Amino acid sequence: MTCLSLFQRARMTATIVASLFVFSYAAAGRPENVHVTYDASSRVFRMDAADVTYVLGVNEVEEVQTLYWGKRLSTGDVFPAAHSPRGTSSFDSPITVTQHEFAGWGGGLYLEPDLKITFPDGNRDLVLKYVSHNIDRGKLSIVMKDISREVYVTVRYVMDPETGILRRSAEIENRTDAPFTIEQVAAGTYNLPRGTDYHLHFVTGRWAGEWNVQDEAIRGGKIVLESRRGSTGSQNNPFFAIDRDISKDQDQGDVYFGALAWSGSWQISIEQDALKQVHITAGPNAFDFAYHLDKRERFQTPEFYGGFSDHGLGGASRLMHRLEIDSIVPNAPNPRLRPVLYNSWEATGFQVEEAGQMALAEKAASIGVERFVMDDGWFGQRNNDRAGLGDWYVNQEKFPHGLQPLIDKVHSLGMEFGLWAEPEMVNPDSDFYRNHPDWVLNFPGRPRTEGRNQLVLNLARPDVRAYVIGFLNKLLDENQIDFLKWDYNRNWSEPGWPAVPLEDQKNVYHDFTKNFYGILAELRAKHPKVEIESCSGGGSRVDLGVMHYTDQVWPSDNTDAADRLIIQNGFSYAYSPGIMMDWVTDSPNFVNRRTLSLEYRFLSAMQGSLGIGANLNKFTPDDFSVAKRLVAEYKAIRETVQRGPLYRIIPPEDGSEQSATEYVSRDGKQAVLFAFLHSSAERYPYPTLKLRGLDENAMYKLAPFAGKAIDRTPSVASGAYWMHHGLDADMFGDFQAAGFTLEEVVNSK
Ligand code: GLA
Repeated sequence: MTCLSLFQRARMTATIVASLFVFSYAAAGRPENVHVTYDASSRVFRMDAADVTYVLGVNEVEEVQTLYWGKRLSTGDVFPAAHSPRGTSSFDSPITVTQHEFAGWGGGLYLEPDLKITFPDGNRDLVLKYVSHNIDRGKLSIVMKDISREVYVTVRYVMDPETGILRRSAEIENRTDAPFTIEQVAAGTYNLPRGTDYHLHFVTGRWAGEWNVQDEAIRGGKIVLESRRGSTGSQNNPFFAIDRDISKDQDQGDVYFGALAWSGSWQISIEQDALKQVHITAGPNAFDFAYHLDKRERFQTPEFYGGFSDHGLGGASRLMHRLEIDSIVPNAPNPRLRPVLYNSWEATGFQVEEAGQMALAEKAASIGVERFVMDDGWFGQRNNDRAGLGDWYVNQEKFPHGLQPLIDKVHSLGMEFGLWAEPEMVNPDSDFYRNHPDWVLNFPGRPRTEGRNQLVLNLARPDVRAYVIGFLNKLLDENQIDFLKWDYNRNWSEPGWPAVPLEDQKNVYHDFTKNFYGILAELRAKHPKVEIESCSGGGSRVDLGVMHYTDQVWPSDNTDAADRLIIQNGFSYAYSPGIMMDWVTDSPNFVNRRTLSLEYRFLSAMQGSLGIGANLNKFTPDDFSVAKRLVAEYKAIRETVQRGPLYRIIPPEDGSEQSATEYVSRDGKQAVLFAFLHSSAERYPYPTLKLRGLDENAMYKLAPFAGKAIDRTPSVASGAYWMHHGLDADMFGDFQAAGFTLEEVVNSK
């Protein structure tokens, strides 16, 4: 066996193993609450769960076609057989106006295909037809095959019992007797009912400015949301929501929404066809993509989630949050509530050392912190961002006795110990890179473009994968580490993989991400108590793929508490506050040099999973007492904030001077309201806040934990009162914050 084929075999094994992990999602909820039926006479499949119905059928030319997606229908409703529509003219034949569930590129298809293949003989035509199906415990799979070649596609559907969100993916199997090249592949296509007034909502951003909510009308043509960066990226997040009108009310109207569970380059295309039908297709980005699929090999796509809500964008977010907490994150449906953490980064930068970290740990413990995290700077010659990445041994000058004394100290203070690492990266100025210059992504003879003075390891290589697993296992075996902050501080450039044959080199896009997941899965299996955070210079790698392996995410390096209102708002469209880490940091903040009160900073951060990143050495006794009080308040409301439905009462969008969020506990007995004022003008009072999601007939007691309501506000009133009359916060000035709890009063109904 040649060296190269050894290499390839190892790659194949890694790929197949990694695919298995992708399918090990927790089955939250009761699968018997998902109904999947097949009517053999009409050849119609129907899936029902929660408040959603999804219907598809096989038409007279054996294509698999969407028939309905939306609000749950009556069980008695029957669908006639699917029919291939008439084309509009010789320019748009039936195949290109059919609402395909999964279409090959061939036979005159001009829409975004789900699969495009080049065969070794030069043929590039692929027309997929229904072959068979299987229904098993609430799961539907449909097999399609090309009209002449042995190319099989299995499309799989699983509906989440609690939210009705559909999870779908496709597996491509090469049963021909030669390899072929997949040039484009998607998990599948969602098709919307015909309509001309659809609006697309999505999030864009950049470093320190992630999670901006955008919206635009869907008209003829195509909108592509994407990352070509090798990883998810903050410039676009792989999430969409589409509503039918431009109602400003967060909780009204029909919304279709979805997200791609993939942390590599990705694309979601939203295309309106010649009949004004909207198709949404998502998968790995087709740009510069190829996957060389050997005979007998199978290729598994990422999963593409899609949901429907008739409770507006707010309702769509609440379903996404529920799905993530109950069936995606590790330990779902019962993940731990996020501990309050302290992180040293903004306080000490790269200047970490034993005594300084111990002193910070003591102060953090005194205000109620539960997890102490030492950030960058503890290893190799890492005194700044120019050196040391890749040398994962403890720096002897900073920690002469290793990490154990600090870890023991942190544990003795009753806190967990967490550590920062950036396993996929190297500084050229590191012993590791000097020994392994070929282990990074590169094109021979070309420059290796650096970002933050670092290069990206080629995780697709089996030796790099083994090395990363090896040093992380050693680190976790030798130290009692409870938590890893896994960072990733740049995107790819020169994505070459010169060590493998030419036809395999573009497999790097797929294999890198699969190996990334495989490493995380192996680590979690070997160290089940260690929790992991996905960080990428802020929120550049947040998606449903990485979320399956990580307990929490870092949304942004921008910790300015006022900017954070906007960032956290955008984040919440797709992702749960129960995984969103928010730190209270120093004022003025390093980003905007804005000065904000400690209370404001706390209230901003308490809207997600609370952390502290301030330099506690600079805290006054007053600061300590405010912090201690608000950490305790947070612990009393955190289950509601991290698990309960979120209502964006006033989103900080379109230049709004106010922002307000409300969280209701899952049992409905507690609600938490946060209100912020950017700047008051002309003596106008704060808008009345009408709460949502309460029991109209229950009585709730109001208690402020910061700021206050106007005089004459009742301390106890019905859910109906708080929802219809509302609450008036007494807020004037600049950068004001108020927080209230409403607790159900027992026996007062
Ligand atoms: C990234 C992270 C920060 C911090 C630094 C350390 O920027 O987002 O939180 O960990 O790296 O270098």
